[in-house]
Amino acid sequence: MEKTFVAIKPDGVQRGLIGKIISRFEKKGLKLVAMKFILVTNELAQKHYGEHKEKPFFKNLVEFITSGPVVAMVWEGKNAISTVRKMMGKTNPFDAEDGTIRGDYGIDIGRNVVHGSDGPQSAEKEINLFFESSEIVDWKQDIQNWIYE
Ligand code: RTP
Ligand code: MG
Repeated sequence: MEKTFVAIKPDGVQRGLIGKIISRFEKKGLKLVAMKFILVTNELAQKHYGEHKEKPFFKNLVEFITSGPVVAMVWEGKNAISTVRKMMGKTNPFDAEDGTIRGDYGIDIGRNVVHGSDGPQSAEKEINLFFESSEIVDWKQDIQNWIYE
């Protein structure tokens, strides 16, 4: 099954949205396989958002993601990467549909509450950046037959 890296950003944590966001992924039927509550170091932020190094918003993005605790997670399921991206909504909460996390909880592009890997390569990179392989839990979800045909 596909795995994806998801983070609740410092704004989501500060605003008390951790439970609501995790609940959405649980209710969808995705399986949580790793989770930790951490402060992202400057070094980790630079690596995580390395693709945006030359962008004008890079400095603010790194400052923001290191400004307070984040919830780092790995979720697993059929098409987990695109499923999470769909549930998050567009990058700019203004453009994100109602019913998506960013559409429901955000206003500003620089405070868009969640992160999710945007493809298989970034998922692999990000999971390895944030987690040791021993921290990924291999477990059987007993209700799996009621989620998958
Ligand atoms: P993320 O990586 O955080 O999940 O967001 P994303 O894939 O939807 O968007 P991405 O293009 O990777 O951008 C990373 C984050 O940078 C901020 N951003 N600001 N001011 C701007 O034009 C701008 N563009 C992007 C957003 O906070 C975005 O989540
Ligand atoms: Mg991105």
